[in-house]
Amino acid sequence: MNLSERQRQCLELLDIDVWVRRNLPPERQANPAPATLPAKVIDEPAWQALRAEVAACTRCALHRGRTQTVFSAGNPAAEWLLIGEAPGKEEDRQGEPFVGRAGKLLNSMLAAMGLRRDDVCIINILKCRPPDNRDPKPEEALTCEPYLKRQIALIRPKIILALGRIAAQNLLQVETPIGRMRGQVYEYPDPRTPVIVSYHPAYLLRKPSEKRRSWEDLKFAMRVFREQS
Ligand code: URA
Repeated sequence: MNLSERQRQCLELLDIDVWVRRNLPPERQANPAPATLPAKVIDEPAWQALRAEVAACTRCALHRGRTQTVFSAGNPAAEWLLIGEAPGKEEDRQGEPFVGRAGKLLNSMLAAMGLRRDDVCIINILKCRPPDNRDPKPEEALTCEPYLKRQIALIRPKIILALGRIAAQNLLQVETPIGRMRGQVYEYPDPRTPVIVSYHPAYLLRKPSEKRRSWEDLKFAMRVFREQS
């Protein structure tokens, strides 16, 4: 694997031992230096209109407790789409997904993959914070689903990484436990997009011993991503 110093530091943060086999040709490296990202065009007026629609949403009771809606972070024209669960306290305050402690770990995970936040787009199943950070209720996820579907249709990502059980089960409409979803390539139907499932960064903060498995999932996702080209 051809690692930059930043990637090596991030892998250390993730408690991953780094073994480097030297002199591998680029095509055999697990994570070759990213080529210049192809320019993917997004319908910017439609994206901004959807953002405004979400900001004004009162479809469920969660709007009463929010400071603001949390629409997306990163680049909507990116090829990687990361989907989390719902905003937490800090996300509700700042209006951006994954900016709290879990977000810092997510940034390290991305850096270990050789990606910056601007190389990916990050969204959540819910756009409003559930009180006391409780799990989203099924009816809340259902009410918010049209926004999620429209976001995915506009982003047209090359790959989706579902972070955690709630994101994976709601996105794929399954009840499979997350442990059984890891290591599989699922397909999101519209537009047809491969989906890889891994642990939520907040879970990894509670259970750091699972970071090793999470890194296996991210490497798997990178392989699937490359195979799409
Ligand atoms: N957890 C999530 O699932 N999403 C966020 O935006 C923050 C924490």
